[in-house]
Amino acid sequence: MPRSPHQFDLEDRSILITGANRGLGAALCKTILQYSPKIIHAGYRSTPGNFEDPRIRWCQLDIQDAASVANAAASVDELDVLINNAGILIPTAADPVQEMANLDAMMDRHLHSPLKLFDALLPTLQASSQAMVVNIISMAAFASVPGCEGYCTSKAALHAATQGLRLKHPGIQCVGVYPGPTATDMTAGSTAPLADAMESAANIVSGMRQGKTSIFPDEAALAVESVVGDGVATLEQQFATLLSD
Ligand SMILES: NC(=O)c1ccc[n+]([C@@H]2O[C@H](COP(=O)([O-])OP(=O)(O)OC[C@H]3O[C@@H](n4cnc5c(N)ncnc54)[C@H](OP(=O)(O)O)[C@@H]3O)[C@@H](O)[C@H]2O)c1
Repeated sequence: MPRSPHQFDLEDRSILITGANRGLGAALCKTILQYSPKIIHAGYRSTPGNFEDPRIRWCQLDIQDAASVANAAASVDELDVLINNAGILIPTAADPVQEMANLDAMMDRHLHSPLKLFDALLPTLQASSQAMVVNIISMAAFASVPGCEGYCTSKAALHAATQGLRLKHPGIQCVGVYPGPTATDMTAGSTAPLADAMESAANIVSGMRQGKTSIFPDEAALAVESVVGDGVATLEQQFATLLSD
């Protein structure tokens, strides 16, 4: 059967995942291994993950450290897929000064650093016949959740930036992923129903391979998609034609 032009293949591809040592990043790493990649550059900040495979190359990468980003970019000579996964959830602080510092930290981690990493890897990505950037955002990008307003703000910014990348780089498949609450260290102690990280990773990778540009990988996320999905996609298409002459 001929391959659909919109279908993305992970076989023999080179992939970089940030924050791959645990949580959703580790689940994505393990899932992608099932699709015969050539190499996974598995980013970790201080401690590599506790799993190994000949195709995994652990790569020290603190996305907020310019030298670390430059070193990682220099060590990657081929790249087809960049997955910006690293993140943190800092709950809202009562003290406004602390809350502003937390917002700065999350904007740096969720917006500026993924974009800087993308820029550092852009020449390598542009050499790929099938370049893709996947930004792990959150369903909380679409409406603020009490107790984590700063986190939602930073994820809304990454959502807008993902749309911007799509406009600026039509040759690169730019994918936004919008998970709901998922069982990882980030949600430890949560009483909300949590999606299984491996199941979510399987749905994310399936969406990537199908050529989806927005992926809602679990039940809670699908409920959000049913409210915003078509509207956001329609607006994005309408705005893309504004001022295009
Ligand atoms: N879990 C959820 O409910 C949920 C829902 C929606 C979206 N998400 C998003 O999914 C992504 C993964 O989250 P998770 O649930 O897997 O969280 P997690 O288990 O807490 O893992 C976070 C990962 O990000 C890494 N990281 C944080 N700051 C970094 C930095 N400056 N440089 C490099 N790596 C860094 C951590 O590395 P260290 O081990 O060194 O700390 C860790 O590997 C995040 O972007 C998160 O916002 C999660």
